[in-house]
Amino acid sequence: MSIRLSNGKVIPMEMHKIKIVQKTTLSPAAARLAAMAAAGYNTFLLRTRDVFLDMLTDSGTNAMSDNQLAAMMVADDAYAGSESFYKLADSVKDIFGYQHTLPVHQGRAAEHLLAKVFVKPGDVIPMNYHFTTTRAHFELAGGKVLEIYTDEALKTESSVPFKGNIDLDKLHDVIHTYGAEKVSFVRMEATTNLIGGQPFSMANLRDVKNIASEHGIFLLLDASLISENAYFIKQREQGYENVLIKDIVLEMMSLADMCYLSGRKSCSARGGFIATNNKELFDRMAPWLPVYEGFFTYGGMSTKEVEAMAVGMREMVEFDVAGASAQFVKYFVDRLVESRIPAVTPPGGLACHVDAHKFLPGLQSLEYPAGALSAAVFLTSGIRTMERGTISTDRALDGTEMAADVELVRFAVPRRVYTMSHVEYAVDRVKWLYDHRDLIGGLKFTYEPPVLRFFLGKLEPKDNWGAKLVQAFQADFGPDC
Ligand SMILES: Cc1ncc(COP(=O)(O)O)c(C=O)c1O
Repeated sequence: MSIRLSNGKVIPMEMHKIKIVQKTTLSPAAARLAAMAAAGYNTFLLRTRDVFLDMLTDSGTNAMSDNQLAAMMVADDAYAGSESFYKLADSVKDIFGYQHTLPVHQGRAAEHLLAKVFVKPGDVIPMNYHFTTTRAHFELAGGKVLEIYTDEALKTESSVPFKGNIDLDKLHDVIHTYGAEKVSFVRMEATTNLIGGQPFSMANLRDVKNIASEHGIFLLLDASLISENAYFIKQREQGYENVLIKDIVLEMMSLADMCYLSGRKSCSARGGFIATNNKELFDRMAPWLPVYEGFFTYGGMSTKEVEAMAVGMREMVEFDVAGASAQFVKYFVDRLVESRIPAVTPPGGLACHVDAHKFLPGLQSLEYPAGALSAAVFLTSGIRTMERGTISTDRALDGTEMAADVELVRFAVPRRVYTMSHVEYAVDRVKWLYDHRDLIGGLKFTYEPPVLRFFLGKLEPKDNWGAKLVQAFQADFGPDC
C-alpha cells in the first residue's frame, strides 16, 4: 500500500517484515569495468558476485513468504500422483476458476507446448505485443506473430492508462485478411512486458473475447503478470475501484478460454502451467506433456516449487501483494520524471523503464542504445538492468537486423526484495548518468548467437567509451566508489 506522510509526500509502504536477508556488496568502478568487459557488455553474462542491486528481472527473484517456504517443507516428492500437484490444481480452481491444469517447468515451456499443438505453418497469431520467448516458439512452429497494439502503446511518455490494449479494428482486419481458420488463437498478455509493463483493460479483454468467439477463435491469456494487471484495473478502470483483486482476476479468467503463465513472476515461485475449462483444448495438449516436460503431476517442476506456487497464487491476489512491486515502480518513475529523465509513463508493473532513445538521442538503433545505457548503469552504480530493445530483437528470417519499436532499459523491481534507499540510490545514479550522457557511445557485436541473441551475445563499446565513463565517475566520487 501507499502511505501519505504528514508533509504530504506519498511513499510506498512495505506491508511485510524482512526476516531473512542476503548479503550484497558494492564493488568499486574499476572492478565493475573489468566485470563488464568480461561479460561482453551484456548484463546477462555478469556474475552476481559483481552485482550490487540485481534489477535484471523480476523472474524467479521475488522474496517468498513464510507460508510459501513452509509449504515447500511438506512437498510430496512422488513421480506420479503427488499431493503437491493437487494443491496447485485446487489453487488454480479457486483463483482462476479453471478445472484443468497442466504443470510445466516455466513459461516458455508452456509456449512450446502451445506452439506444438496449435500453431501450424502459415498460421498467424495476433496479440497485443510479443514476448521474446513467445515469438521464438510461435515462429519456430511456422507461425507469424502479428502485434495489433493501439497507436498509444509505443509512445513511451503517455497518460493513457491501458497501453496494453488490442486495437479492435486491427483484430477485425487480421481475421478478414487471413481468414479465421489461419488464426491459431488470439494472445493477450497481462501487464505487457516489452512495452514497459503496461496493462490492458477489462473492457478491452471483453471486446477481444467477443470478436474472437464470433469467429470461433479461442482467446489465450498470458497470465505471468496477472495480479499486477488486475491491480491496475482496480486503480484505473471505472467501475472496478471497489472490486477485490481476487474477483478481477476471476473475471479476467472467465473471459479467456485458456491461460498459461510463468510462475516466476506474480506467483513468486519458479515454474509454470497451462489451465483451461475447455476439455477439448486440454486433451489435445495433454499427451505431449510427458514427452517434453514430465508426468502430469509435476511437469518438470520440483514439487517444492509446485507447493510454493500453490501458495503464491493465493497470496498474489491480496491487494498489498499485487501492488508490492507496482507501487515501488511508481515511486521510482515519479522521481525520474521530476528530474525530466525519460521514463515510461504511466508507470507499469514489474519495472521502471527508461527510454534509451530519448536518453541517448545521438545513437542509432543499430548502435544499441538500450544495451549501451544498461552497461553504463552498471559501470556507474553496480546495478544490473536489462536491455529491452534492438539487441533483444532477433534478426528477421532473411538475416536483416530489425530495429526494436522501443529501446528500453528495464530496472526490474522484484517483489518485496528492495527498499526505498535502494530505489533512491538507483535514481541518484541515473541522474548522474543523465548529466554525463554524452560520454556514452554505441556497442557492436563481437559474437552474435542465431536465436535469442540477447542471452549469450557479446559486444564491445565503440571508442572504448566505458573506460572514459568510469574515469569521469571516479573523478566525481573518488577511486573507491
Ligand atoms: C509475459 C511473459 N510471458 C512469458 C514469459 C516466459 O516465462 P519463463 O521465463 O518462465 O520461461 C515471460 C518471462 O519473463 C514473460 O514475462
